[in-house]
Amino acid sequence: MTPRKLFVTTALPYANGKFHIGHIMEYIQADIWVRHQRMGGHDVAFVCADDVHGAAITIAAEKAGKTPQDFVAGIAAGRQEYLDGFHISFDNWHSTDAPENHELAKTIYLALKEHGLIAVRSVRQFFDPVKNMFLADRYIKGTCPKCGAKDQYGDNCEVCGAVYAPTDLVDPYSALSGARPELRDSDHYFLTWSDPRCVAFMQKWANEPGHVQVEVLNKIREWLEKDEGGEGGLNDWDISRDAPYFGIEIPGAPGKYFYVWLDAPIGYLASLKNYLGRKGVDYESYMKDPALEQYHFIGKDIITFHTLFWPAMLYFSGRKTPDAVFVHGHLTVGGEKMSKSRGTGLDPLKYLSLGMNPEWLRYYLAGKLNARNEDLDFNPEDFMARVNSDLVGKYVNIASRAVKFVPGGKLMAGDTARFASAKLVESVRALYEAREFAKALREVMAFADEVNLRFDGAAPWKLVKEGKQAEAAAVCSECIEAFKVMTACLKPVLPALAAQAEAFLKCAPLDWGTAATPLGEGHQVGEYKHLMQRVDMKLLDALFEPPAEEPSPQPSPASGRGSEPGGEEIAPEITIDDFFKVDMRIAQVVECQAVEGSTKLLQLTLDAGEGRHRNVFSGIASAYKPEELVGKFVVLAANLAPRKMKFGVSEGMVLSASHGDEKASPGIFVLSAWPGAQPGMRVR
Ligand code: 2FM
Ligand code: ZN
Repeated sequence: MTPRKLFVTTALPYANGKFHIGHIMEYIQADIWVRHQRMGGHDVAFVCADDVHGAAITIAAEKAGKTPQDFVAGIAAGRQEYLDGFHISFDNWHSTDAPENHELAKTIYLALKEHGLIAVRSVRQFFDPVKNMFLADRYIKGTCPKCGAKDQYGDNCEVCGAVYAPTDLVDPYSALSGARPELRDSDHYFLTWSDPRCVAFMQKWANEPGHVQVEVLNKIREWLEKDEGGEGGLNDWDISRDAPYFGIEIPGAPGKYFYVWLDAPIGYLASLKNYLGRKGVDYESYMKDPALEQYHFIGKDIITFHTLFWPAMLYFSGRKTPDAVFVHGHLTVGGEKMSKSRGTGLDPLKYLSLGMNPEWLRYYLAGKLNARNEDLDFNPEDFMARVNSDLVGKYVNIASRAVKFVPGGKLMAGDTARFASAKLVESVRALYEAREFAKALREVMAFADEVNLRFDGAAPWKLVKEGKQAEAAAVCSECIEAFKVMTACLKPVLPALAAQAEAFLKCAPLDWGTAATPLGEGHQVGEYKHLMQRVDMKLLDALFEPPAEEPSPQPSPASGRGSEPGGEEIAPEITIDDFFKVDMRIAQVVECQAVEGSTKLLQLTLDAGEGRHRNVFSGIASAYKPEELVGKFVVLAANLAPRKMKFGVSEGMVLSASHGDEKASPGIFVLSAWPGAQPGMRVR
């Protein structure tokens, strides 16, 4: 059989933050599929990259006091730790700001233009006169035109749910500078998806068997469909943004940049090209090979870009179109939804740093993944039960129990045909191919049950007592042979464990070709070393333990002399410049409320004279009733980095006084300004 040639990607993550568990889940899904392909002897290029362009990243970089380039380089430097940690076997990790992507994006754009699919139109948009830039909808805030709620985003109201244009907002302001935005006109470049050629192609591609899942196809049909009045259907796509924009400049349009979503998927090709270049393979000939198959794993929130726009961009620029786009659902943790930027309580790096086995997670997620676009939930109790009962109780235990009764580890003939190994391998392999991982694992575990039943039924420990050593060794040899088959079947999910098991079995790396072939009589296995620990609930408790609620300065340990003012030593000397780094402002408490689920926190809405309100959580609930604080003028540490807390984002800290030894001298006293101080005044 000639090996297949596959080009496989996962969605390129935004380089504005660390990976969250949703990213890791997608990588694990794709990695299992890729490892399965490699076990079939196929040639896979599995690539990804950081998606680095756009306004959100520019702003994150600015907040961090870095250039976008330095900022995304810092993010990129942190990626490998996760990928190695969870055994994700990408062949390449690249960046959408790399030269390959600049070049490919420009070439593809020019080809689309050549096809008459680019239009230029004037667009009226909000412009921030302080920042000197056009504002994306999410950077415009104001009062909801429907319900009057303050500080709502430019596209919809989080209070009443109304959807509107940013220009409908009452008293709009720039979320970046607080300034009142002005309406200005500017030329924008559009990809004319409404062109009948595009719609016809998109329809054709999506309807071709295997390209998208049925549930995805139904969505696509809705999006492309026009109603009887000719309304609906796809709009043309605005692919340009005005400078300043961190992106790729549009050829022939100085000061105009590609919208991040135009060059992001092209980053798949750029990463592939970079990888092939490093291997000395010519990219153009690689792509021209009619045997090449191209697959993209993505989440359900980015279907339009990948199943409509991306295939059309490729097709109309004369390129190969994807063979399939595989869409997965979202991961919830304990039933809780996850936001794209914030993730959830399951921090992948914390998982690793607690010494939790990455293959526990790989196994657990694989046990929930199927080929459909369905959400899945991480449930800690279920996680522990699954891993302990399946992996430790059923799989690993067979090897440890059986090898004891095989003298010198030398396998006997046994009845290797007892278990339907070849059938299992064939079926499991087909299920991996179809991305039905949960079903594949269920079959392996049903097989493990049979093997354990055989072991327990034969009771080799009794046979040995009865002097039937050879019989015991034969049964246990069968079980070890079966363990080998299971190892191969679990290998795409548990690559590290499989490598350890192969070392124990003293066999060559297993693949689909060798999975069902018995090691054979006389084969010598090695010494059994413990293969996997059980999950301990304490680890899961530690994993989900919320971070401390309120940052409070750590008092130095009391010296016992009792002479420190306020119960703690004066901090080391600083300069006046150090002092001015903390920007303290007068803020008026506009609203104040208790925080459900917290006994310590109050949630304050503050006006610090910025033309917007700030949300601040403060650990003062023991000292004040919410209504006591409303209207008061407090001191706000205004340039603290926003802090994500369990209950929301806290945008600064309200200053208060307390004794270093809370028990000796309880009480928290909020600082308040004398009459006359106005919101926004600096405290110095
Ligand atoms: O939604 C996201 O996280 C995007 N960064 C995905 C981009 S995928 C591809 F198009 F690059
Ligand atoms: Zn509203």
